[in-house]
Amino acid sequence: MNVVILAAGQGKRMHSDLPKVLHRLAGKTLLGYVIDTARELDAERICVVYGHGGEQVPRAFAALDAPDLSWARQEPQLGTGHAVLQAMPAAVPSAPTLVLYGDVPLIRAATLRRLIEAAGAGSLALLTAHVDNPHGYGRIVRIGGKVTRIVEEKDADDAERTINEINTGILVAPAAALARWLPGLSQRNAQGEYYLTDIVALAVAEGMPVVTAHPGAAWETDGINSKAQLARLERVHQRNIAEALMEQGVTLSDPARIDVRGELRCGRDVFIDVNCVFEGRVVLGDGVRINANCVIQDAVVGAQSIVGPFARLRPGTVLAEDVHVGNFVEVKNSTIAAHSKANHLAYLGDATIGSRVNVGAGTITCNYDGANKFRTVIEDDAFIGSDTQLVAPVTVGRGATLGAGTTLTRDAPADQLTISRAKQTSIPGWKRPIKNANPKKKD
Ligand code: UD1
Ligand code: MG
Repeated sequence: MNVVILAAGQGKRMHSDLPKVLHRLAGKTLLGYVIDTARELDAERICVVYGHGGEQVPRAFAALDAPDLSWARQEPQLGTGHAVLQAMPAAVPSAPTLVLYGDVPLIRAATLRRLIEAAGAGSLALLTAHVDNPHGYGRIVRIGGKVTRIVEEKDADDAERTINEINTGILVAPAAALARWLPGLSQRNAQGEYYLTDIVALAVAEGMPVVTAHPGAAWETDGINSKAQLARLERVHQRNIAEALMEQGVTLSDPARIDVRGELRCGRDVFIDVNCVFEGRVVLGDGVRINANCVIQDAVVGAQSIVGPFARLRPGTVLAEDVHVGNFVEVKNSTIAAHSKANHLAYLGDATIGSRVNVGAGTITCNYDGANKFRTVIEDDAFIGSDTQLVAPVTVGRGATLGAGTTLTRDAPADQLTISRAKQTSIPGWKRPIKNANPKKKD
């Protein structure tokens, strides 16, 4: 099968310098969703038609190692029929061609499989929907139940405008038929464009069967033309993710107050409180509790661990079982072994922390000297007193104790107390300054 993804349009209503299909939904570009869905269908060829924004669109994917994609530039953009025509040289002529839209991100593979099945080898299949408000869409004109053509809103007469079966734009047609029809399309219509939708009447004229299939959910075919639509679809998508997590047994305090921008894998009996953001690849083990207001990115949280409230786990964080990371604790590129705790106000970056370690409040790994990063190693059973600075590279030995306020610049030996602190003194008879009753005027 061939897949053509239309992504050349400008997206004027986004009011942005970024091409529309590069805007992000849950952290991923709109076009990225469509490409990934096309891949689920085992397409032989995926061709993206781009144009507005120039090379920005293919460049955004070049870095992602996508040898299965081909790119066809449409310049100028003369309509959807003209757009699909640009992709025909890349198509396998004997196979059906599926047309998708780069700004319709949430179309599901299951819906597309039904459409592809309906098309078979020799039919034109349209994905259509019955909607309450068909304004703006192409309407499906049927006579005696059979589809005869599609008429665009701007070309429709009053009777046609009352039709509430609309063209979602997504269709499947034999590639050879498209190659035959598209070069002959005309621009004689209200918008002066080459309409892809005109192929329906051409198929009917040739006696080719025209069949329809419908999306499983209305949001699947929602296109994005504005920031408001982007925000609405983001909520739909987040709601779907939350439903899927709950379906697996995850407890969410409020499914409307979680944001997953990537892949979140959860074990059994995971609890997630409100306002948590998950980015990249996050794995939460069995029995993990994520308290309110945490931001977790590319991290692994071991079974029975407790994170937050107000914790931030940055990329490369790996927590083993029963680790506690409490409020205002930031962890980056660090591993923390089982039963260790950093419960309050700490920065742990580029650190390897052993088991049963207690990291006191205000502890900071000074991992960066302004040019290079260095590691801190804290061995099993160490106790890090509050307000300690660990100036990396530095190692705290097994069972060592660091006194509160220590600035550790050399390794702390195992099992000893290490402390760096100015000696405490008290001055007897010292008097507090008192305010002058008749202050002298300054000149
Ligand atoms: C199109 C359909 C309409 C359907 C609607 C669904 C046609 C003529 N009309 O209308 O029946 O109800 O989609 O949303 O097909 N694009 C290009 N190159 C172009 C023009 C468009 O790549 O020259 C891309 C756009 O980036 C967009 C998609 O094609 O992703 C649809 O274009 P748009 O102009 O939004 O089509 P509509 O006028 O909405
Ligand atoms: Mg248009």
